[in-house]
Amino acid sequence: MKTIVTASPEEAAAYVRAGDVAAFPTETVYGLGADALNPTAVRKIFDAKSRPADNPLIIHLASHDQIHPLVGSVTDSAHVLIGRFFPGPLTVILEKSEAVPSVVTAGLKTVALRMPAHPIASAFLNACDRPVAAPSANRSGRPSPTTWQAVRDDLDGRIACILTGGRARVGLESTVVDCTGRHPVILRAGAISREELRGVLPEIGLAGRELDEARSPGMRHRHYAPAARVVIVDQPPGGEHPADAYIGLDTATADFRISRVAPTSEAYAHELFDFFRECDDASVGTIYCQQVDEVGIGLALMDRLRRASEGTSR
Ligand code: TXA
Ligand code: MG
Repeated sequence: MKTIVTASPEEAAAYVRAGDVAAFPTETVYGLGADALNPTAVRKIFDAKSRPADNPLIIHLASHDQIHPLVGSVTDSAHVLIGRFFPGPLTVILEKSEAVPSVVTAGLKTVALRMPAHPIASAFLNACDRPVAAPSANRSGRPSPTTWQAVRDDLDGRIACILTGGRARVGLESTVVDCTGRHPVILRAGAISREELRGVLPEIGLAGRELDEARSPGMRHRHYAPAARVVIVDQPPGGEHPADAYIGLDTATADFRISRVAPTSEAYAHELFDFFRECDDASVGTIYCQQVDEVGIGLALMDRLRRASEGTSR
């Protein structure tokens, strides 16, 4: 398959309307979209990524009126979150309606919904004129792509189209909140911080690992992991590291093959997946990642660092 690269949201949307898949930019990471109501089209996403069929997809929307037909009911907590954070980097889990094919939700009775705030994403989703199922546009097991070139590196020849945009603003994925229960629960830390969520829903919880896996089957797969060994450190290590890499807030004194210093946790999050890809291209042995405080984007950043450092499927 020849992969078309275009800057036209309308051209990319035409592929989705025809039952093919197209990658598109969002403010978090690039997504790989297909018509959410067309099971044959959605299966192409799983094939292109080699994604396990038990890992459900997020449905991306252009407008609020697309929510109602896809869900059983909008719970109070979902109502609050949608009002405050849509459009934006937040995903809300609700009970699904009959309209949502089970291939999208991996057989779950719930569905994940998100309305991106990125202007090119909005133009694309508007032109698609239907809900669009989309995971991150990486091969399964690779870091999520933050540039269209990273999408091409992973999926060239496997998807119909890539819609170009700039580098993703956030660089980590959306926050996923389960709104089906009595209390809302953060299933995946992400671009919207726990503090921001508590500001509107003080009772919101954070899923521990076991709950996390029971409710969100995708979370047990290996995610976000580069080929190199990832080690989380307190301080940049000293000594000789000609084959290794370092990323963190503090400047390293030792020599590394590749190193990146970020002035803030936001900048660190923005760089992380791109840095992992650069490390893989350079075949570095070990990537030393400095830990950060788990506040703001730091909670999501540490979650991704831990997953990458675990290295095996869990
Ligand atoms: O920022 C993002 O969320 C990006 C952009 C493209 O929107 N998308 C993304 O999709 O990261 P993906 O598929 O890589 O991650 C979606 C996560 C997975 O962990 C999946 O298991 C979970 O959301 N998920 C999807 N549907 C779910 C459901 N019904 N219940 C619980 N978890 C769900
Ligand atoms: Mg993903």
